[in-house]
Amino acid sequence: MIIALDGPAASGKSTTARLVAQRLGFRYLDTGAMYRALALAAQQRGMTDEAFASVLPSVRLDLGYDADGNQTVALDGEDVTAAIRTRDMGLAASAISRHAPVREYLVQMQQELGRRYSEEAGGAVLDGRDIGTVVFPQAELKVFVIADARTRAERRLAELEVRGEVYPDREAALDALEAELVARDHADAARAAGPLRAAPDAILLDTTELSPEEQVEIVVQHALARQ
Ligand code: DC
Repeated sequence: MIIALDGPAASGKSTTARLVAQRLGFRYLDTGAMYRALALAAQQRGMTDEAFASVLPSVRLDLGYDADGNQTVALDGEDVTAAIRTRDMGLAASAISRHAPVREYLVQMQQELGRRYSEEAGGAVLDGRDIGTVVFPQAELKVFVIADARTRAERRLAELEVRGEVYPDREAALDALEAELVARDHADAARAAGPLRAAPDAILLDTTELSPEEQVEIVVQHALARQ
């Protein structure tokens, strides 16, 4: 079984995907982390996104899980799990993800991983922007996860603070983060290749007022109903 979770930045997709996979004994794939890793690879090589697209097969991208079940990412053998979680890498990932060759490369990898995870564990939960529309349009369950922009900014700020970043003026930080998330969503929705878009048959899940446990429960119930 394939479960596709799409939606704008910081809407709660990754947390939901990880916990839903845990509940159902499935494996999960955070596809945003793959775009972030390629953005970092381009940066490390000092290449423009266009030039980088032609050397894609030379980049080694290894995905795994840590002891808590969080996805880990290694780039050319080096663990970059933490390095790709910055604000800058989110923006760089959005920029590189506009390029069709980059998308084609990752979409194929995501399809292979999703099929393999599904065969090995009975199911795979993928989160991203184009999972239900491009990567697995035949997914058994598609959910489009949304939340209001301020709530998303608050969640993202909390994540950054947990990682040790310090924001003395929280209101100003929230304003800046909200503007950044909204601009990134517009860019992701406006691109020609694999835009951020709900599949026509996706369930809309607004997480603004929901706890992670409630979000997970809703998706799990939909999944169980389709098994
Ligand atoms: O989910 P995230 O914030 O880690 O994603 C970072 C960027 O990667 C996002 O702004 C757009 C791009 N992305 C994409 O184009 N398609 C996906 N399936 C996942 C992410």
